[in-house]
Amino acid sequence: MRLSLSINREFIVGAIDDRLYSSFLEHLGRAVYSGIFEPGHKTADAHGFRTDVAELVRDLNVPLVRYPGGNFVSNFRWEDAVGPVHDRPRRLDLAWRSVEPNIFGLSEFIRWSRLVGTSPMLAVNLGTRGLEAASALVEYCNHPGGSSWSDLRRQHGDADPYNIRIWCLGNEMDGPWQVGQKTADEYGRLALETAKAIKLFDPTLELVACGSSFPEMPTFPQWEATVLEHCYEKVDYLSLHQYQNNNADDLSSYLGASVRMDAFIKTVVSTCDYVAAKKRQKRPMMLSFDEWNVWFHTLKSDKNQEPWKVGPPLLEDVYTFEDALVVGLLLNVLIRHADRVKVACLAQLVNVIAPIMTREGGGCWKQTIYWPFWYASHFGRGTSLMPIVSTEGYDDPQSGLVPWLDASVVLSPEEDELYVFMVNRHSTETLTVTSRLVGFESWSVVEHVKLHHDDPKAANTEATPNRVLPQASQPKTPTSLDSLSFGPLSWNMVRLRKV
Ligand code: AHR
Repeated sequence: MRLSLSINREFIVGAIDDRLYSSFLEHLGRAVYSGIFEPGHKTADAHGFRTDVAELVRDLNVPLVRYPGGNFVSNFRWEDAVGPVHDRPRRLDLAWRSVEPNIFGLSEFIRWSRLVGTSPMLAVNLGTRGLEAASALVEYCNHPGGSSWSDLRRQHGDADPYNIRIWCLGNEMDGPWQVGQKTADEYGRLALETAKAIKLFDPTLELVACGSSFPEMPTFPQWEATVLEHCYEKVDYLSLHQYQNNNADDLSSYLGASVRMDAFIKTVVSTCDYVAAKKRQKRPMMLSFDEWNVWFHTLKSDKNQEPWKVGPPLLEDVYTFEDALVVGLLLNVLIRHADRVKVACLAQLVNVIAPIMTREGGGCWKQTIYWPFWYASHFGRGTSLMPIVSTEGYDDPQSGLVPWLDASVVLSPEEDELYVFMVNRHSTETLTVTSRLVGFESWSVVEHVKLHHDDPKAANTEATPNRVLPQASQPKTPTSLDSLSFGPLSWNMVRLRKV
């Protein structure tokens, strides 16, 4: 099937914030214990950090890692996770019905962030706690010294402030599962007052207010409107969370997930703009899509887990090739919304619905979803251009019209390379394009990377870590986009350069 694809240098969506390729690490399951942290492991450094895992995380090039939750944060006393390790209490984590030994805490997270070359995005507990605990935490982390909380940090061995620039005001506060759930008015007021206190401390810190937990929540999007009516002036971002699933085992419907994500973002943008108009606010609200991924493989089996263990194996979804296609599609959506989505966190990073898996005492490996994320994180930085694709598609009852071809386009920061990320959703037809490159007339293909497996359920495991792997090819002579073919059910990245 031949389709037309126009790329115009002037169809600029916006500058892509590098933080679009961020991730998330929660005290949940084996993300921390036997994930990134395993003293005694043969690769562990002096701090107990697994260097084999750190290497893979570094390779993903994630600018921010959101921490420590997630649902975990809503019942978390940050004071338990600082100071001498042997004095820290063991606590019951009600969110995941696990035991939190607090052996890995705040100082350890900051040290690990530096090791893997990322920056922290910290969440404060607005479930069981509030304004006072949040301001104390910010002071502990960011004040140089000369106040009781900052001097406590110094006494704990960290003379330099952590200088954490972005903070989440709670997590999924609309959810009945959340410890300390709030109504939109309760949360909106609390978010406003917490934001005020944090901005009085340092007006340059960036704050994220909680949006709905997912778009099917009965209070969506009224929750967003009410919360922002309270705190619009004091926050910088509104959060979005959404997980995709293939519970119905219906691949074509599953591949429509990105259409649903796109609609979700558009509704949130409209809601923010409505509140801005009502409040006569000139500054548009930016979005932090701080939890997104595929999550469904373990939902049932996790219900049978025995509670109150340290680091139990929870949410250990083994991702397939079709999940990687969906992750590639979701990344395209984020890139196409780069004007408003400034932060996005792949949820999560290690062992828990993660691109990286480990075995306790054993190795670590890359899941299928690692690959589209890796390519987007490495090459999807610069300026997002809106491609115009004239493509037919199929009707999906959940999503409406789902086009066969999905694309996003990125012009590199140096403006010398163009990256076209494409997914062919068709299960039998190869797609080719007739392209119109306006402003890139003499550019041609220098590389084509493909991700495909004949079995949509193929997965990477410790025994077969390379079953689903990208294949890259570089043409020997200048080649036009029109001469490439995009096989059925494939993710592709095409790199073009002026020749
Ligand atoms: O990422 C797993 C969980 O999903 C998070 O703790 C929560 O915020 C969301 O419901």
